[in-house]
Amino acid sequence: MIPQSNPKAGYLAHKEEIDVAIRRVLDSGWYILGQEVSAFEHEFASVVGNKWSIGVASGTDALELALRALGISFGDKVITVSHTAVATVAALGRIGATPLFVDIDPCRYTLAPESLEELLSTQEGREARALIVVHLYGQMADMGAIMPIARRAGLAVIEDCAQAHGAALNGIGAGCWGDLGCFSFYPTKNLAALGDGGAIVGADASLANKIRLLREYGWQERYVSTEFGINSRLDEMQAAILRVRLKHLEADNNCRRAIANSYDEALATSAFAIPRRSPGAQHVFHQYVIKALNRDELRAQLKAHGIATLVHYPLAVHQQPVYATSSFQPVPLPHTEEVVKQILSLPIFPELSQQDRETIVSALSLFHSN
Ligand SMILES: Cc1ncc(COP(=O)(O)O)c(C=O)c1O
Repeated sequence: MIPQSNPKAGYLAHKEEIDVAIRRVLDSGWYILGQEVSAFEHEFASVVGNKWSIGVASGTDALELALRALGISFGDKVITVSHTAVATVAALGRIGATPLFVDIDPCRYTLAPESLEELLSTQEGREARALIVVHLYGQMADMGAIMPIARRAGLAVIEDCAQAHGAALNGIGAGCWGDLGCFSFYPTKNLAALGDGGAIVGADASLANKIRLLREYGWQERYVSTEFGINSRLDEMQAAILRVRLKHLEADNNCRRAIANSYDEALATSAFAIPRRSPGAQHVFHQYVIKALNRDELRAQLKAHGIATLVHYPLAVHQQPVYATSSFQPVPLPHTEEVVKQILSLPIFPELSQQDRETIVSALSLFHSN
């Protein structure tokens, strides 16, 4: 079976370098928040193009700590999209904040600025304190339109960049537009650890200081807590692995783009909707998502040809059992509700072989020529 993603292939592609890095950590005798984490934080901030980065234990923790650093707390309203990984909204739940969902652009799958304007014209929208913009599937949301709307409304802005390592819009990187950017290094991500990991990036030194306290028990100095902190540390082993992978991020993203281009070409005359690139966007194709009216049939046929696919995501967050009863939508979400029925994520990862790409392309053409 051709897998939809393949974290082990990512490890094997750089096995020697990664094994050396792991051995270095094992031999050092220092396993949490040490030289590897500091070095990774500097290197990652410079690749992203922001002033600082702080390693934490996961992407969900990164979002929680970013919200807390910006002063968002219990009962506060935070605007975000419902077409995202549930983690975006789970982070709000961790601090007792309330999500207010806005709709997406049906071709790019990211936050629709006009839906944000509509929400901000309602009473609930006017009460919101922050906005989490999600750069889904590897393409940035329309930040040129979103940021002025958010600033006019006095919203703090967090970018969820868990699927957008190396993405940019008009030359400005994901994580450099809002107040804080949050990344995940889950093993299938474009920049992947071999375990859990995450990071927050930003430019404001006082926010950095606060996040450093919050990620480790609120410690101003060892054993002296001046904030209600948690434990969310990136470990030395993951940081050492990430330093290796970071050197290959650009080449890996180029591979993903090449695969996307070959799918684009193969599907150009098909009835499937292929991912739309925004002008000025550097798409990093965390996922290659098509829309097909007969999605489930297509999925079954690809499976019969030995090709695994996934649906990111089969339910929007507001449709999930736990959120359906607890969330309230001031504005309609027609595009969000429509795309979940049609989307399909094809296999995409840098190590996908030429032969497998050809198998996928010919199975797709077989389907759309029938
Ligand atoms: C858009 C988005 N946000 C947040 C997260 C959460 O990251 P993690 O799984 O590292 O907590 C993920 C990853 O699953 C994601 O895809």
